[in-house]
Amino acid sequence: MNTMQNRPTKTIRRNRAVENLPEEITVKELQENPEKYHARQLRNIVISYDIGECTWRNLAPKTELIQALIDNFPGGVIKIRKPGDVVEKSKKETELSSTEPQSADIIPGLFIPKEDASFVFDNNLREFLSALRRMSQGKKDIMNTLLVGPQGCGKTSVAYQFAAKTGMPLLKMNCPLVREPRDWFGSKRAENGSVFWDKALFAEAIAKGGLVVLLDEITRATPNVLNSLLPLLDWTRESYIEEAKEKLKVGPQTYFFATANIGAQFTGTFKLDSALADRFGAIVECSFLSEHDESELLVKRSGISMDVANRLVKIANMVRNENQNSGKLTETISTRVLLDVAQLYTTIKESAFRFTVLPKFSSDGGLQSERAQVLGFIQGQFPHLSI
Ligand SMILES: Nc1ncnc2c1ncn2[C@@H]1O[C@H](COP(=O)(O)OP(=O)(O)OP(=O)(O)O)[C@@H](O)[C@H]1O
Ligand SMILES: [Mg+2]
Repeated sequence: MNTMQNRPTKTIRRNRAVENLPEEITVKELQENPEKYHARQLRNIVISYDIGECTWRNLAPKTELIQALIDNFPGGVIKIRKPGDVVEKSKKETELSSTEPQSADIIPGLFIPKEDASFVFDNNLREFLSALRRMSQGKKDIMNTLLVGPQGCGKTSVAYQFAAKTGMPLLKMNCPLVREPRDWFGSKRAENGSVFWDKALFAEAIAKGGLVVLLDEITRATPNVLNSLLPLLDWTRESYIEEAKEKLKVGPQTYFFATANIGAQFTGTFKLDSALADRFGAIVECSFLSEHDESELLVKRSGISMDVANRLVKIANMVRNENQNSGKLTETISTRVLLDVAQLYTTIKESAFRFTVLPKFSSDGGLQSERAQVLGFIQGQFPHLSI
């Protein structure tokens, strides 16, 4: 089925703002050269990403729009609409390729993540997520969920995979980049002597509901910025936005997930205020996968042999143990890093450690250094590695 069928269309009229632009701009290019593009050129753009295409209305100031593109479509390609292009009239609907799950009612700019067949839900997590889903279907208030755990253990991915499995769109808010309390809601704009309120995507999306909102790295936002979320996360689920002179009410079926690395080793983080922490009824403690599951993941994602995968995971677990329990190592090896090692191993074998794991550990202290200790663990599994 094609969502474009039987839908009114319009032809893009001459628009000087886009005349000199290329047909396509990558999100990466936009991120690196924001000053090259004018806000008007980015209106009504089409993003293609790896599961299809969606339209994106310019709902927010340019900086916020660019940030949202980076967060949601880091590898996306922006197609510039040129004079003569035919587009659908309703900007409220998303264009998805015919092979992808379709929702005619999705807000432009949101997307349904792709299900990752290699993602491993441990039994606890599976049980919790299906309970969360069942509770909401029984019309009970949806509990907010805080995912805590070490870096690179899969916290962000859990929210993506929950959205993918339930077929709901996801909005990822990169909390450290939310600088002002009102950034959640919108901003004022003056045009031709009048003042307009441009609603932010966050406010528009939560008011509509039926989505997963990921407040990623919540402990890296200032308490001041997070305070404005308090009323939206409690049972009232609403807040009055003074500048817009309107009430914002969270729509039905809105799932809030937040992620945090909690612990003294995480510099640049704020302690989660107890009033905010209290609003997360469910706290899921994420940890690294079991030896067996992590090895299987490495094999599936990189194509290395099970034997090599087992040895990589053994090294990682020795390092994690020294990091978490004895504190002798100040860094750890996350699943993310292991995946990189495995990927590189397929081409340069043991040398992969020299470019991934080893530089993470300090060489201060020579033979007594953290790096020497980790090298010992690696050579225990890969005796041919020389430095
Ligand atoms: N259970 C899992 N199954 C499959 N892949 C996983 C799992 N856990 C982690 N990964 C993989 O590990 C990598 C890191 O995951 P992710 O970014 O979700 O971690 P994180 O806990 O959010 O990290 P950070 O604390 O740095 O934000 C991703 O490539 C992810 O796919
Ligand atoms: Mg994360």
